[in-house]
Amino acid sequence: DASDIEKGTYPHYMLKEIDEQPLVIRNIISKYQKENGEIKLDEDIRKAMQAADRIYIIAAGTSYHAGLVGKQLIESIAKKPVETHIASEFLYNMPLVSEKPLFIFISQSGETADSRGVLVNVKKLGYPALTITNVPGSTLSREADFTLHTYAGPEIAVASTKAYTAQMAVLAILAVDTAKARGLTLDFDPIKELSIVGTVMETLCDQKEALEKIAREYLSVTRNCFFIGRASDYYVGLEGALKLKEISYIQAEGFAGGELKHGTIALIEEGTPVIALATQKHVNLSIRGNVKEVAARGANPCIISLEGLNADNDAFVLPKVHDYLTPLVAVIPLQLISYYAALHRGCDVDKPRNLAKSVTVE
Ligand code: G6P
Repeated sequence: DASDIEKGTYPHYMLKEIDEQPLVIRNIISKYQKENGEIKLDEDIRKAMQAADRIYIIAAGTSYHAGLVGKQLIESIAKKPVETHIASEFLYNMPLVSEKPLFIFISQSGETADSRGVLVNVKKLGYPALTITNVPGSTLSREADFTLHTYAGPEIAVASTKAYTAQMAVLAILAVDTAKARGLTLDFDPIKELSIVGTVMETLCDQKEALEKIAREYLSVTRNCFFIGRASDYYVGLEGALKLKEISYIQAEGFAGGELKHGTIALIEEGTPVIALATQKHVNLSIRGNVKEVAARGANPCIISLEGLNADNDAFVLPKVHDYLTPLVAVIPLQLISYYAALHRGCDVDKPRNLAKSVTVE
């Protein structure tokens, strides 16, 4: 309950929750690690992951965006096929499912009606279900066979921040555990890489002034803003656009870099802000090509890149983390830029108009 959770010295819950992310990552590491350093996970969940021939991730809103990253994590680390679906679409347009599916529901609140609708159908069909949630006693947790807790602590601001990074961290742990249980060898130490993420998040949370300046420079007067990225940067761009539109009411859309020329580029005018993410080596040249295309049409590009892939004039450079985990850190500047954009525009950051923290009706 919001009244029980103090903001302390923070002007808004959202800012407090953004700052809590390094702590949440450390908390997740300690909850999912055994004393000998191995991953601690319910044996039944491990078995369910092994038994599945395909995983279906179902979620809404920000949790859906975490699910897109989750697909990439599980496919690249554990080599299991994954599909991520919007709950409300899956409900009315269910795809043909594989013979031995495992359904993973991602939900901060565990109460989203659209996700619950899918869970009810899935259980009727006799399929196993795992819920990844921040509220273990919630409906989606009780009605699924298994639950993984995201340990983010209560999230009060309507715009989700720490719950999103916590969901991705738990998905990364699940992917690593599944890979190990399958006998795959990993070329990285997952716990060490997640700890680095925590440390980098802290560095990013200390860069509020620089990010406030970016918000002021790019977003004070504009009526729209585009986010572009490729591969996992595309998924993070979708989340960045959602954050910005939710709390600042700037019309914001996230696009796959390659799709620009198929429509969106028509919207570029003199001064249109385009926030481009460049944290992925294999697409760095392509995304920078996209930036040139929009800049040539008058856009005001704001490049957020990763150390080692950065170029002159990038607006913000993220410290290096493992390739698979870049979404967990790349979203932080986007959360803070959105926060400051909303603040500068006089919006109610914690309680944006027309939105609910948890949507329990269809
Ligand atoms: C609402 C919230 C979003 C959230 C979505 C899904 O729309 O405003 O922040 O991402 O519901 O909620 P869930 O609790 O299922 O993650």
